[in-house]
Amino acid sequence: MYGRSLKRFEVVVLIFNILLARASLDECPALIPAAVKSSLSNGACPLPIDNASGPWPAAVSPWTHRPECEYTADRTAKYCVYTNSRHGSHGWSLISSPETAADSVRFLDIPFIPSRLNASREADPLYRILDIPGKGKGLVATRRIRPYEELLLDYATIVVDIAFTTNVPSILGYRLLRAAVDRLADPVSVLELGKSNDFAQDDVENVLRTNAFHTSLGGIPHIALYPTVSRINHACKPNAYTRFMEDKLQVSVVSARAIEEGEEITISYIALGQTWEERQNKLRQWGFNCTCSLCTASKAEIAASDARRRHIESLWTQAAQAFQAGKPYHALRFTRQIIKLLPSEDLFPMYAEQYGNMARIYFVLGDMENATKYATMMLETLALQGDIDSVRPEHYEEVWRRFKNGEELKI
Ligand SMILES: *[C@@H]1O[C@H](CO)[C@@H](O)[C@H](O)[C@H]1NC(C)=O
Ligand SMILES: *[C@@H]1O[C@H](CO)[C@@H](O)[C@H](O)[C@H]1NC(C)=O
Ligand SMILES: *[C@@H]1O[C@H](CO)[C@@H](O)[C@H](O)[C@H]1NC(C)=O
Ligand SMILES: *[C@@H]1O[C@H](CO)[C@@H](O)[C@H](O)[C@H]1NC(C)=O
Repeated sequence: MYGRSLKRFEVVVLIFNILLARASLDECPALIPAAVKSSLSNGACPLPIDNASGPWPAAVSPWTHRPECEYTADRTAKYCVYTNSRHGSHGWSLISSPETAADSVRFLDIPFIPSRLNASREADPLYRILDIPGKGKGLVATRRIRPYEELLLDYATIVVDIAFTTNVPSILGYRLLRAAVDRLADPVSVLELGKSNDFAQDDVENVLRTNAFHTSLGGIPHIALYPTVSRINHACKPNAYTRFMEDKLQVSVVSARAIEEGEEITISYIALGQTWEERQNKLRQWGFNCTCSLCTASKAEIAASDARRRHIESLWTQAAQAFQAGKPYHALRFTRQIIKLLPSEDLFPMYAEQYGNMARIYFVLGDMENATKYATMMLETLALQGDIDSVRPEHYEEVWRRFKNGEELKI
């Protein structure tokens, strides 16, 4: 696989993306930010451009560099590298089709940085990048961080259409990958990242294969690299989690509990709730053996933790089966047991999901009072985690609509 897949957490947010999407319709294919619009001739919609579009730099493009392009092997399509080296914190390079690039101009609606010298947008960041014994670099808190505090905001710095990686001959592709990095405000921030892929033949390819996440641009699969988030090491009971904002190509990292000054900030690279062996196998694909405290605990502790995790997994299966078999009271009992077990394994991201399941079961039972109670608990958890900005009536409507139609909440 090329890149990491987003895990459990992503899905919780997807429900509400529909609501967000409705708000961003405009006469152009995408809402064009004012700063970008003023750089377009006559405030027109951005047009697809490639390396032959000219004259350069015409007042047609918010990109800071002239695109460079390569044909697919069958010469039916072109992929180009588009860069705005002042976007976000390190600049942004996109390798995609001219059409996707034109639609993606809206992502530039972020205050441009004045220069690379103050590329760090935070005057007083809550973290420092330090050497961590045995783990290379990592992030360490510079002061005490409260639960659910946003500790950093990272911008996609390199975004690549997955089709490019398969359709363009690799030797030509490497040229564009290299250009994508060289044109950034801070190429080193990308080139220094971990490289642990055995199949990559090029440094940039290796960085992407090791660190990039799957994302989607205009419905087309892409991978995205977030350089600061890539610095955060894995833990099985992490103290922070990532919140992807695909609609902005940003990701924020939020504390899951209080983090002390000097403590390392960690996230989980894999879905939570897996057993020791599953964790080792999954993490080996990342190029390292799991050495977090839960992986190196005593045999007895690992066995106890594994047993609890297997129990949660099995209750989950039983709850789903009971629900599908029309036995909501059984499903209710299993789900209650899951909720009781979650604190023992610090499985905080699963709360919203399980509250959602409770709400659905009560909804099916016609107990709207309890359904509302659990839907509220789910929405309040999502709001606390920052996945939604506040709990609004339309969130409930969306939840009931999905329950009624038997649609997944995707949580
Ligand atoms: C644009 O890129 C293509 C593919 O690399 C190349 O064949 C063509 O000569 C380039 N055109 C210009 C005007 O640079
Ligand atoms: C960033 O650069 C601008 C313009 O050079 C300057 O006014 C501002 O003080 C700088 N910010 C920081 C945090 O250094
Ligand atoms: C991980 O552990 C295995 C088996 O103990 C060992 O062969 C391998 O070299 C280790 N890998 C790393 C990256 O430390
Ligand atoms: C909610 O569910 C509990 C447990 O099933 C039940 O005892 C209670 O009566 C329900 N509450 C309401 C308001 O219906």
